[in-house]
Amino acid sequence: MVGQGSDSVQHVAIIMDGNGRWAQQRGLPRNIGHERGVEALRRTVEACRGLGLSYLTVFSFSSENWKRPTSEISALFGLLRLYVKNDLKRLKDDGVRVQIVGSRHGLPDDIAELLELAEKETAQNSTLILNIAFNYGGRDDILQACRTLAQKAADGEISAADIDAGMMSNSLWTAGTPDPEILIRTSGEYRISNFLLWEIAYSELVFVDRYWPDFSADDLRDAIETFQRRDRRFGGLSVKESSS
Ligand code: FPP
Repeated sequence: MVGQGSDSVQHVAIIMDGNGRWAQQRGLPRNIGHERGVEALRRTVEACRGLGLSYLTVFSFSSENWKRPTSEISALFGLLRLYVKNDLKRLKDDGVRVQIVGSRHGLPDDIAELLELAEKETAQNSTLILNIAFNYGGRDDILQACRTLAQKAADGEISAADIDAGMMSNSLWTAGTPDPEILIRTSGEYRISNFLLWEIAYSELVFVDRYWPDFSADDLRDAIETFQRRDRRFGGLSVKESSS
């Protein structure tokens, strides 16, 4: 947790965008950009631990990324393999709990097994929860949650009228993780791209004009400071307005 009261931040979500453009700008293959993106992720996990954040959720492979050339998809899967192989022990020793958010459907068997291993090996940790959104789409998640709740209603376990926001949150892949206070998107694009659609209802959006491989601990601190200068009203009045 960083800060106090309404200024406090425990969960930051990030759309790690711009790996390809970072590489292209330097005349390098896109995959090098993704490799540097993994390094930026390592730095960011460290920075979150240093700041005392409790949750970090990163968009690593979207359900739309299947549209990319097979060679790039294979490279992204290869990077995930390397990341788990190289970093799992350190994450485990550092108290980081890895949780995978997304559909296991359609993933190569060894990737699905690796993701499960990362979750299992770190399940006892609680210093920082690292949610890796992999094969993830926000609409897909809302749909699967609706199907789960509809089935429960059909089976008589719940009544349709009882379905509320809490029940919905608990049926999402992100169940158990509080909504992010801040959503950061790098690369200067101003889009949500189907990330955490339900969870970001009241998140503050921070757009960073820098490609993901260049994202630093200072950028994270700046984003938190930007958040702390904002006036969050959740549809009500600001503290100043309500006391006048
Ligand atoms: C966006 O850049 C980034 C991605 C599609 C993948 C993000 C992946 C990583 C940071 C590395 C993999 C992470 C793990 C955990 C193994 P882009 O390719 O869309 O860049 P562009 O918009 O400039 O083309």
